[in-house]
Amino acid sequence: MSTSPDAVARYALFGHPVAHTLSPAIHAAFARERGSGMHYEAIDALPEQFPELLARFAEDGGLGANVTLPLKQQAAELCDELGEHARRAGAVNTLVRKGSGWLGLCTDGRGLVRDLTERNGLDLRGRRVLLIGAGGAARGVAPALLEAGIADLFVVNRTPERADALADAMGQPGRVHTRYFDDLGKLGEFTLIVQATSAARGSGLPPLPMGLVGNRCACVDLNYGEAAIPFLAWARASRAQHVVDGLGMLVEQAAESFNHWHGWRPETEPVYAMLRDRQNTLVSAE
Ligand code: ATR
Repeated sequence: MSTSPDAVARYALFGHPVAHTLSPAIHAAFARERGSGMHYEAIDALPEQFPELLARFAEDGGLGANVTLPLKQQAAELCDELGEHARRAGAVNTLVRKGSGWLGLCTDGRGLVRDLTERNGLDLRGRRVLLIGAGGAARGVAPALLEAGIADLFVVNRTPERADALADAMGQPGRVHTRYFDDLGKLGEFTLIVQATSAARGSGLPPLPMGLVGNRCACVDLNYGEAAIPFLAWARASRAQHVVDGLGMLVEQAAESFNHWHGWRPETEPVYAMLRDRQNTLVSAE
């Protein structure tokens, strides 16, 4: 297979489904801010199609890509080299073309930390953290939370073995602990609770005791839109001081990716404000 002669620098998001993704709009806005053109498209790829589609993308001048569900772990396997967070997470959301291969990075965690510290003004240092979920989303953020200086990370997951695997992958047994959902009532209070399951899109979140929410606790759902509503409602009812959805993290992880591709980090506030407005309009129209 040869590179087409009129190859242009291309960027893309791979996932399934990708019809409603916000990523092309986010990257188009970043490119406008930078004053440069950028060809960024959403490519719907089932896991069995992904290796072939990614190879074709590279031949056609693909220089970078984002990867979303359900391809993040598979993407890690297709990379020649992994960044530290991607290695520990076992998942990749950003691909950067390096020579004839791919460097795989995970920018989700840095995106979350940036959203919490810069946009929401939270100091994460010393926090006692509960991470609900142990799938790709949870694995993607755990390394950056630890790096940001939290004290302890407690992981609960419907399938306990996955929580154990996440804890093992972090390699910090003194700081990362696993617990059963049934024991949530005995865990005391937390100062940061991160909801990283996809339960709201399925049968719903398991019941959470309100006593988990400590003084000055921040509750964060990595989802946004409808999928974040149940947990954020629980957090407000539990009197959490800060209640945050995943929209800010989405924009920040995209900015991190953009920076890896172009060596330039966009100003994220205008894009965030535009998406927040759009989302508020959607919610109020329902
Ligand atoms: P993602 O990349 O979004 O994390 P994933 O890797 O499929 O997707 O993980 C989904 C997460 O949501 C997992 O923690 C999953 O728990 P299991 O590991 O037990 O599957 C969690 N999850 C999904 N539906 C759930 C439900 N109804 N109740 C509790 N947890 C649920």
